[in-house]
Amino acid sequence: MMKNLIDKLYDERTLPREEMRTLLENYTPEDREYLFALARRRQLQYYGNKVFTRGLIEISNYCKNDCIYCGIRRSNRNVQRYHLNKEDILECCKAGYEWGFRTFVMQGGEDGKYTDDYMCDIISAIKSQYPDCAVTLSLGERSRESYQRMFDAGADRYLLRHETATESHYSRLHPEDQLLSTRIKCLYDLKDIGYQVGTGFMVGSPYQTTDNLLNDLEFIQKLQPEMIGIGPFISHKDTPFKDCANGTVGMTLFLMGILRLMNPKALIPATTALGTIQDGGRELGVLAGANVVMPNLSPVDVRKKYMLYDNKLCTGDEAAESCAVLKARMERIGYQVVSERGDHVDK
Ligand code: 5AD
Repeated sequence: MMKNLIDKLYDERTLPREEMRTLLENYTPEDREYLFALARRRQLQYYGNKVFTRGLIEISNYCKNDCIYCGIRRSNRNVQRYHLNKEDILECCKAGYEWGFRTFVMQGGEDGKYTDDYMCDIISAIKSQYPDCAVTLSLGERSRESYQRMFDAGADRYLLRHETATESHYSRLHPEDQLLSTRIKCLYDLKDIGYQVGTGFMVGSPYQTTDNLLNDLEFIQKLQPEMIGIGPFISHKDTPFKDCANGTVGMTLFLMGILRLMNPKALIPATTALGTIQDGGRELGVLAGANVVMPNLSPVDVRKKYMLYDNKLCTGDEAAESCAVLKARMERIGYQVVSERGDHVDK
């Protein structure tokens, strides 16, 4: 039914807004399979059957922000807060390096403990001990100067989801002091400085409409990020959105396929959130065009404290164990988990 539109998207890497709306609102199961087949063709063209891994180190669950959807929001009094210090983080890298990781992602809430000086010290230590590894940061909104200093200290990439590119929607997901315009400025600063930049959004977040999603796709097309992370919204019991419906696997996968066709060279993770709402969700993500997975390298004793949403996957496993399982899962569907930095093809 929508085959013509999907072919057009494959050839032109974009669709006029109304045609994209038609596709998002009317696709059939056959359309979905057709989209995924073309998405895999693009994925193979630039990255082969490789799946890149990123070792995720959740450095802190302290956060000065109060995002309504997020389990580690400031107002959640039920969280046991922790931060990792330099030695803890280097321990994670050491174990991760032995397991084959060549990218370390330091992610955390917006925690005042991580001043520029402290972050730069950690980044330079990782880069000098592991010169063949990439360092990715995911530490939220900071000043341009701060981003520059961390880049100069050796950071290679930065992840900062825009969450939703529609101002009115953004303001329903965040308190008044958090602005979409600030988020967008950060993203352009990061690009300008020279980071490989990742952005993305939640699928099925409360109040989300098709128009919001169309704006998200258009924003991504304009920004041209190197990485695009999307995952389903999953409610967290201690947030005001506790009774809201979760996003669906189906819509998340369909959007991943569309994003692969719009951004053939992008690095697209099959997210933990996707694996959380469905067993085998990350494999389905790879089969819909994803080529990155981000196993958890955080120390086991802090994992349960970094609960962005309910029932988060792998909070109990030993990292080594979950890596082996993931590797086998990817091989079963014809993909190869590689021990490489996995940079964007143009970088
Ligand atoms: N459900 C799904 N994803 C979430 N995130 C935060 N809270 C939730 C939730 N309840 C995502 C945000 C953020 C990333 C680190 O985790 O998109 O950017």
